[in-house]
Amino acid sequence: MKFHVKSLDLAPMGVQRIQWADWHMPVLARIRQRFEKEQPLKGLRMACCLHVTTETANLMRTLQAGGALVVVCASNPLSTQDDVAAALVVEYKIPTFAIKGEDNATYYQHLRAALETNPQLTMDDGCDLVTLLHTEYANQLKGMIGGTEETTTGVIRLKAMEQSGALKMPVLAVNDAMTKHFFDNRYGTGQSAIDGLLRATNLLLAGAHVVVCGYGWVGKGLAARAHGMGARVTVTEVDPIRALEAAMDGFAVQPVAEAVRDADVVLTATGSKHVLDKTALENLKDGAMVGNAGHFNVEINLVALEELTCCRREVRPLVHEHRLKNGKLVYLLAEGRLLNLAAAEGHPAVVMDMSFAGQALGAEYLVQHAQELDHKVYVLPEALDREIARLKLEAMGLHIDQLTPEQQEYLRSWQAGT
Ligand code: ADE
Repeated sequence: MKFHVKSLDLAPMGVQRIQWADWHMPVLARIRQRFEKEQPLKGLRMACCLHVTTETANLMRTLQAGGALVVVCASNPLSTQDDVAAALVVEYKIPTFAIKGEDNATYYQHLRAALETNPQLTMDDGCDLVTLLHTEYANQLKGMIGGTEETTTGVIRLKAMEQSGALKMPVLAVNDAMTKHFFDNRYGTGQSAIDGLLRATNLLLAGAHVVVCGYGWVGKGLAARAHGMGARVTVTEVDPIRALEAAMDGFAVQPVAEAVRDADVVLTATGSKHVLDKTALENLKDGAMVGNAGHFNVEINLVALEELTCCRREVRPLVHEHRLKNGKLVYLLAEGRLLNLAAAEGHPAVVMDMSFAGQALGAEYLVQHAQELDHKVYVLPEALDREIARLKLEAMGLHIDQLTPEQQEYLRSWQAGT
């Protein structure tokens, strides 16, 4: 079996941590039990480009239980948990290509290793694997059943591919399922990016001024959690509706170049590029910390930051101090890469349980409906989304009401009025 991980000696710790996560992923465990019996992915080659974490390991076990021949590579150079990568190889016999801190060349070498298994299905987080498949490995597209995509950034890229006619297989946007973005993006990133901030800096949030750039699901989660821990929160936005929502949720709203003047912490969560650009970086308060909760390391203009910097040193793991030419000190967290996975452990298993239930059911759905699907981006069918929510409620021991026949009739009718 081919693999490239940091050290196989780390496997025992990885196995223990994967089991811990498994105890918090009951929905995925239920799907795994069914997959073992029904074998919906039997004999299918799957290439998965995901953050190599304990939660991902349990997803890989589920796909494998469903009969898939799985290979996994990292979807980010800094997010790999090396003990998990080792455990995947040693304990679960899954070819794994992921090393925390790998350089860009190694990162792409790992994606190529996954594609060289000639997959029929992809599972991607950010669309790098699908992009490479459509460029360097386009000759393999004919054999593809389709793919799934985990994150907002990846879905944006896929929709651009679809619109330009470049997409040559069906893709399920798991991110767009309600049981994914309502929970994972908001509560998952909201908590885990703050976790990364605190682990990296040991900062006290109470009394700090935190600027959150972007008020999508991730921004909403970050702002709510920072506020909940006593921070004063300002939101920056480009969308008037989201800006209004932030204002009515009780947050200050300002343009980014202004907001940063008084910020202790600036967190980007937009999915866009150069949100913290030269002017905003120059305006940062002396001692400000800047980090990114979005998928790619493009939200903070790192080239502009270099140009503004006269010297730089690492003052704590994953914290680089930049002395700017204007005399101010600025602290860049996790090299501008996604803070929650680089400096902490990513989203807790409890929330990844739903996201990865969507991935597993999404893969099964693609196989079952391969004949009917075009080269388009699809959402997970609502029935599957609701089933995931139902199973999660059940696992949480929560019960809800059902519409009575009278209520169902009332909601179907239009005659009854005042
Ligand atoms: N994305 C965010 N958190 C994650 C996690 N814990 N595992 C895999 N992907 C993630």
